[in-house]
Amino acid sequence: MPLPLATATTGSATVGTSQDGSVPRHVAIIMDGNGRWAASRGLPRVAGHRAGAEAVTRCLKAARAQGLEYLTLYAFSSENWRRGPDEVADLKGLLRFYLRHKVAELHGQQVRILFVGEVHRFGPDLCDELARAERLTAHNTGMTLLLALSYGGRSEIVQAAKALARAAQRGEIDPDSIDEDVVSQHLLTAGIPDPDVIVRTSGEHRLSNFLLWQSAYAELVFLDQLWPDFNETSFMQILEIYARRDRRFGARPA
Ligand code: FPP
Repeated sequence: MPLPLATATTGSATVGTSQDGSVPRHVAIIMDGNGRWAASRGLPRVAGHRAGAEAVTRCLKAARAQGLEYLTLYAFSSENWRRGPDEVADLKGLLRFYLRHKVAELHGQQVRILFVGEVHRFGPDLCDELARAERLTAHNTGMTLLLALSYGGRSEIVQAAKALARAAQRGEIDPDSIDEDVVSQHLLTAGIPDPDVIVRTSGEHRLSNFLLWQSAYAELVFLDQLWPDFNETSFMQILEIYARRDRRFGARPA
């Protein structure tokens, strides 16, 4: 059941309500800039990722306070495996730490946690912890948090195409019946509404293989702020920018 959405106000601007459609149901974020944040302070990259994990907590708090239904965070891309072994180990360690210390709290807040991506690549131990977190929170009725881990949009579409081709080969599906809904149902995000807005921090203007199918009609918001600096005000800024956008889904202006 959708949560009641708060009317958000920052400064003099009013963000809106769920009734007038000016508040997004689903915000997806490309958390970028941890490395630059650390470098600008003369710190190792891992310090940027640690600060980034703290920003995740602030973002979750703001999203829940605003009654957001779905929050997706791009925590590890399929391309991130190309980083040095030390950095990959640091990111895996942070993820494990986060799961151990935050899942119980999120469960207490009725947050449902889901993971999308090739999570088996993290190895059986971490995979088990991810599965435990999903099972524990499966019936929660508050916000849904999707963590994209070892996620790549193109490979997600490829696996959906393969699954559909196999089903057609077995005679379980008529190729002519494959439409956009059928493809959506074969993606890792099946059952989750497409994001209304996709945000990228750090001043970069790219999707970087994030939710390529699901982003078809998403509003794109680019913030100059580095991810570790993200806070409640940043979240409110996203809602304000979104509220000012005129979403037409290809239709003519009214
Ligand atoms: C991009 O910054 C960020 C990542 C590759 C990882 C995101 C990870 C976190 C926010 C912390 C851990 C998350 C959880 C959920 C525990 P970058 O390293 O590419 O930054 P740069 O472009 O400035 O180098």
